[in-house]
Amino acid sequence: MFSLEGKTAFITGGSSGIGRAVAETFIANGARVVIADIVATGDAASEIGATGVHCDVSSEASVAEALGAAVAVLGKNLDIVVLNAGVGDVGPDLSETEQALIEKVTRINHWSVIYGLKHAPAHMNDGGSIISTASMAAFISVPGSAVYSAGKRAVTSLTEMAALELGNRGIRVKCVCPGYTATALGSGEEGQRICEAFTALGRVAEVDDMSGVYLFLASQASRYMTGQSLKVDGGWDCGPTATLLELVTGSNQAPG
Ligand SMILES: NC(=O)c1ccc[n+]([C@@H]2O[C@H](COP(=O)([O-])OP(=O)(O)OC[C@H]3O[C@@H](n4cnc5c(N)ncnc54)[C@H](O)[C@@H]3O)[C@@H](O)[C@H]2O)c1
Repeated sequence: MFSLEGKTAFITGGSSGIGRAVAETFIANGARVVIADIVATGDAASEIGATGVHCDVSSEASVAEALGAAVAVLGKNLDIVVLNAGVGDVGPDLSETEQALIEKVTRINHWSVIYGLKHAPAHMNDGGSIISTASMAAFISVPGSAVYSAGKRAVTSLTEMAALELGNRGIRVKCVCPGYTATALGSGEEGQRICEAFTALGRVAEVDDMSGVYLFLASQASRYMTGQSLKVDGGWDCGPTATLLELVTGSNQAPG
């Protein structure tokens, strides 16, 4: 059920972090993978047995071109598309956020998913799977990250809309919402400390805590799922942890 034997996959932002781990996991489970990234993709791709194509996800033309190039490289249409590339720039309060940051983050994290969902279906086989990377920031607002959070919430909305539009081809559309994850984009020691206090599991995520979820969503194991936003957050969304309560009230239980 979890096998990707004979399947083809296209992964944006596959040169590093979560995207690279997903590419490795797909390859280990039988898929042939093209990674599409703005940084030099050749070496990163060949190290893991994938092929790299250049893509700037903030450009509609570049996304369309990269999808076409992937089909040419793989010699057949795509079964799996992962719209994962993103940046983590957060600003000060909205009132002080520069236009340049608004445009950069919105184009790369939000519009890129519109472009991917718009152009990928023409290059896909019926019965395929599209998985975008949103974020727990779509649901839990952390001060100073308004543009990032809004863009990620938009990804969850686009996921539902595309699921409705592509259901008649059997193409399933989902998004993964990671909590803080140890990558170049992740928030380093601060992210770790937040996870220790705010998550039920009490630790930051590693990329391989994410990649198995993408495998599940890409494979037949999730064949009746579409439109979902999956929170992969170590239990951040459950509510305040005992550690947090103790910090605030001195007791690790709800006040009686
Ligand atoms: N790391 C976290 O804590 C975390 C949490 C929630 C969501 N996410 C999301 O996960 C996704 C992957 O991030 P990551 O943590 O693996 O970070 P990362 O920096 O390791 O990977 C991001 C990748 O996207 C590529 N990229 C950036 N801009 C691009 C562009 N314009 N065109 C094409 N490729 C581009 C980068 O080159 C890089 O390979 C992002 O969408 C991010 O918002 C990350």
